[in-house]
Amino acid sequence: MRVRVVVAAAMLALAGPLILAPSSAAGPGDPVVAARQASMKEMAAAARAIAEMFDRKRAYEPAAFKQAADTLNARAGALIGEFPHGTLGAPSAAMPEIDDARPEFEALARHIGRLADALAAKAGNAPAAITADMRMTGPPMDGGSLLGKRPGAAEADPAKMPAEHLLHLILQDCTSCHSKFRRKTE
Ligand code: HEC
Repeated sequence: MRVRVVVAAAMLALAGPLILAPSSAAGPGDPVVAARQASMKEMAAAARAIAEMFDRKRAYEPAAFKQAADTLNARAGALIGEFPHGTLGAPSAAMPEIDDARPEFEALARHIGRLADALAAKAGNAPAAITADMRMTGPPMDGGSLLGKRPGAAEADPAKMPAEHLLHLILQDCTSCHSKFRRKTE
């Protein structure tokens, strides 16, 4: 009896630091945080390049369109794995709430991944100049972004949407995720 208590106490002492291991926060300079921030910047640069081509602020070039769409697709596809437990909260801008809302976070990441996939497929067959059928005709609609979706609204097939429309839906997903899961820094 006595022995068992002593052993239990010893084990508790050993396990102590593990049990008490705090928080889900990353330390300063955590390479996982640095990598995902770089990945986000790359994704932002790619999205901006495509938006500027459609807005005629930058020369449209099929090869450049494809390259940007491939980058966007690769970065969006990697999103889910870039926010492991233990890397959330300050000094990163990733909110600790991601840990409590994994299904929602991952659904958003998969949603943007599907859209980016469809955009990359289109960019792989991009014509020499932007054609009318690549352009969006009305406001972006697929039942809205994932979070703002009307209940029961059917999800349109991304493969059937014009490239510009896909881009706008992708940008909505960036905003949806940031407004929920990214700490405002200023
Ligand atoms: C599923 C959620 C999610 C999606 C989708 C998402 N982001 Fe982010 N983004 C985050 C989070 C969380 C952070 C904060 C990361 C950190 O500081 O560790 C972030 C940070 C950023 C940053 C700042 C990076 C830095 O240097 O600190 C930029 C820029 C960015 N995102 C752009 C985008 C763009 C552009 C898109 C869409 C094409 C996008 N994000 C889509 C969650 C998301």
